[in-house]
Amino acid sequence: MKKIVILTSGGDSPGMNAAVRASVRTALSHDIEIYASYSGYQGLVSEDLVPLDTVGMANCIQLGGTILKTDRCLAFFDPKVRERCVHFLKEKKIDGLVVIGGDGSFRGATLLYAEGGPPTVGIPATIDNDIVGTEYTIGFDTARNTALDAIDKIRDTASSHNRNFMVEVMGRRAGFLALDVGIAGGAEYILIPEVPLSADDLAVRILDSSRRKSSSIMVVAEGENPGHTLALANQLHQKTGVEYRVCILGHTQRGGSPSAFDRKIASLMGNKATQMLIEGNHNKMVAWVHDRLIPVEFPNPEHPARKVTDRKLLEINEMICK
Ligand code: F6P
Repeated sequence: MKKIVILTSGGDSPGMNAAVRASVRTALSHDIEIYASYSGYQGLVSEDLVPLDTVGMANCIQLGGTILKTDRCLAFFDPKVRERCVHFLKEKKIDGLVVIGGDGSFRGATLLYAEGGPPTVGIPATIDNDIVGTEYTIGFDTARNTALDAIDKIRDTASSHNRNFMVEVMGRRAGFLALDVGIAGGAEYILIPEVPLSADDLAVRILDSSRRKSSSIMVVAEGENPGHTLALANQLHQKTGVEYRVCILGHTQRGGSPSAFDRKIASLMGNKATQMLIEGNHNKMVAWVHDRLIPVEFPNPEHPARKVTDRKLLEINEMICK
């Protein structure tokens, strides 16, 4: 292993920089040259690799976003484009690739390898925490703390004005973010895609609640339809007469300085990814399983999203928020 490429791809998540820094410095300490493909796979598509050095990694561990830029590079899903990338990587004698991102990014790496590209190791990074095979993805902890901070502030207003709020959080197909933030924020209701509830059922619950609180917070996962909470608030108002103010947290959850947990786990994952390439343990992802980092297969593209399975947590929340 003499020359490797590193890239961040898909949605940015806090902690990506810590993973880049660790991966780059691990490579350099083994006398491996390491190059950035900026903006995800776009660097490969535009045949532009930039050498990285140890000094360039200084003072990035505390930064949100990604210093390597990122993109959801649709061009890369064209086989002809990938063929040119494979040719380019061979010409440059690249013998390894570190991909930091989500399942879409890993799918790209798997296709590239199958078509003659270099061996790859993936580092799971998304605030959604929804990648099959790992119990943790970089950025989740920071995002849930960012959302929690917003909910605490909203609660001040909810309580002062005797108002009800619905707070929509990200997470795409999975409810991990909503569930954790809802429990930690003392939300009276938590709606996640894994446990769908119609507006009628929700209205019955609201009207049946034993204690009519003067203010409340409902945490709603965005699911496949970001912004849907506005329509839901209207429906609930019509069905119950209870007025809900809506706050959609959106991309505020993606940015910001990574938490201690994200910085630490991202650093360890970055180190592990480069070690795996060196050891020939590739076409795998670094995964956090039972409090340990281990190599696992890339997620099956047919079943890309990990889902919340522990419904008991919702029952417990219902009990403690009465
Ligand atoms: O996958 C991370 C995520 O932030 C999701 O929670 C959200 O649905 C999506 O990305 C938003 O993507 P974009 O930034 O491309 O609008």
